[in-house]
Amino acid sequence: MKGHRWFAAIYDSMAASEERRFMGEVRTELVGGAKGRVLEIGAGTGLNFSYYPKDVEVIATEPDPYMLRRARRRLTESGNHIELRESSAEELPFENDSFDTVVGTLVMCSVPHPERALAEIRRLLKPGGEYRFYEHVRYDSAFGGFWQDAIMPIWRWFGAGCHPNRDTVRTIQNAGFSIAHLERTKPLPPVPPMIFSRPHVKGIAKSPD
Ligand SMILES: C[S@@+](CC[C@H](N)C(=O)[O-])C[C@H]1O[C@@H](n2cnc3c(N)ncnc32)[C@H](O)[C@@H]1O
Repeated sequence: MKGHRWFAAIYDSMAASEERRFMGEVRTELVGGAKGRVLEIGAGTGLNFSYYPKDVEVIATEPDPYMLRRARRRLTESGNHIELRESSAEELPFENDSFDTVVGTLVMCSVPHPERALAEIRRLLKPGGEYRFYEHVRYDSAFGGFWQDAIMPIWRWFGAGCHPNRDTVRTIQNAGFSIAHLERTKPLPPVPPMIFSRPHVKGIAKSPD
């Protein structure tokens, strides 16, 4: 992947107020609940790293070299024991049934082929393993979805490939997961540009036993 230099450079400052307002709590719960051998996809600058429990083994992946560089720096500074690999979620270089947990936060909006990424996650998870996810998604209403579709080309350009209009929960279900836990929230204010990425989902999807 060529990568998005400027997006990586501003990502942490852009995310700072959301981290304080709700993402810190989301990461505490979602990442803090990871068990066993853990794979993170689309790790970005590594904002999840400090939230992993001490007793898990984590391999974090990220395809963008600019993000990866920042994640590596964060790891060095924090001393967290996490292995970092350059890889896209559509093609993950690991064996079948080799992870207990996969973590993905704010990733499926940016992955070019979410169906392929989810097939990979399913392949890598052990039977009964958990995919722990947090995503911004498509509005339930046709009106909201219409505006997300309309803004998508511009949004994608400014957001380094981000799609505001994806029905990610449905894509997860279509990949053969069962949804064990799901919370829908709208943590952002109803004003542009945040209004276009307002519906969020936090969930746990289970790989079939
Ligand atoms: C909005 S950022 C989220 C970063 C991080 N997960 C977080 O919670 O802060 C989206 C991330 O998805 C990554 N990404 C884009 N395409 C991807 C792909 N094909 N596979 C995995 N990650 C991808 C981007 O490089 C970026 O780091």
